[in-house]
Amino acid sequence: MKLRGAWSHEADALARVHAAAFDHAWSAPEIAELLDGPGGFALLVEDAEPVAFILCRAVAGEAEILTLAVEPPARRRGLARALVEAAAGAARMAGAEALFLEVAHDNAPALALYAAAGFARAGLRRGYYDRGPAGTADAVVMRLDLGRAA
Ligand SMILES: CC(C)(COP(=O)(O)OP(=O)(O)OC[C@H]1O[C@@H](n2cnc3c(N)ncnc32)[C@H](O)[C@@H]1OP(=O)(O)O)[C@@H](O)C(=O)NCCC(=O)NCCS
Repeated sequence: MKLRGAWSHEADALARVHAAAFDHAWSAPEIAELLDGPGGFALLVEDAEPVAFILCRAVAGEAEILTLAVEPPARRRGLARALVEAAAGAARMAGAEALFLEVAHDNAPALALYAAAGFARAGLRRGYYDRGPAGTADAVVMRLDLGRAA
């Protein structure tokens, strides 16, 4: 397994990983647009092919995790933890003082991951996620202080 930077010409492969991880997949053009937008950067873990990635944005002293996806067969091997730590380092290098994210209030694996990585709960966005006929879900906003992070 290798962790490295990912680029917009690899958006097709990233979209495949995203589709394997989420019910509502992001398209390759959507991912490429975010990567090429202001402050966009991504990191991936590959075996022969990418199996996990994190997509972030760092602008004006703040950074945000836009998405994090690990294919189901590659889970619970520390890949997400490694990606979050590497993204925090990259965001710090880009001048960010804090790293934010939104996560569904009922996404227990992700909440556990981010808590273990040192993120603290910073707020709640009610009805943030549209789940179609199932209604909406609240998002928990979490923040990692990059000044104090390891
Ligand atoms: C959440 C997700 C990214 C975790 O990826 P992962 O590579 O399996 O996570 P890691 O192996 O790095 O786990 C690190 C820690 O997170 C926590 N964790 C991860 N998955 C967990 C689970 N299913 N249940 C409970 N805790 C979990 C644990 O504390 C774990 O440490 P441990 O294995 O030593 O107990 C992955 O399950 C995924 O892609 N889910 C679907 C997409 C998603 O929810 N993305 C995040 C929201 S943006």
